[in-house]
Amino acid sequence: MVSEKVEGALNNQVRLEAESSQFYLAMASWAETEGLNGVSEFLYTHSDEERQHMLRLVRYINERGGRAVIPQLPKPPVTFESMTQLFENLLKHEINVSEKISEVVDICLNEKDYITHNFMQWYVAEQIEEEALARTIMDKLKLIDGDKGGLYLFDRDIATISVTSAADEGKK
Ligand code: FEO
Repeated sequence: MVSEKVEGALNNQVRLEAESSQFYLAMASWAETEGLNGVSEFLYTHSDEERQHMLRLVRYINERGGRAVIPQLPKPPVTFESMTQLFENLLKHEINVSEKISEVVDICLNEKDYITHNFMQWYVAEQIEEEALARTIMDKLKLIDGDKGGLYLFDRDIATISVTSAADEGKK
């Protein structure tokens, strides 16, 4: 059974993951209208993953005798200034998610809820990867610096970008 405090913290996280999914869906849709099909596919997939993150929490809360709350979501932006601005937003958003996950972990420890603490470790590991990926993408966009040919290749290759820094790529 989860305590009220843990249940509240997990439900806040449900909202945040749902907001992430909605936010990335808006990004995907904008990228699609800009003809950036690679970026758009990447973001549609990312949006789906965030929904899975939300679902995992919803099911856990209910399984542990709590009650998951399906939240109302704010309307995300319709347009973005540029690819760089879009991925800057994404990185900032992921950093915020990581902070919130740390807060949930902290609450679990204070409440001596080691089962939920254990459950949350999956999210901790996931955030390390997601932040690193967003940083790698930002490194690449900085290198491209708005160059159209560079953006074309970025859009073509984004599905294959893995977590390595752009600096490492330069050494190849
Ligand atoms: Fe599920 Fe990207 O945080």
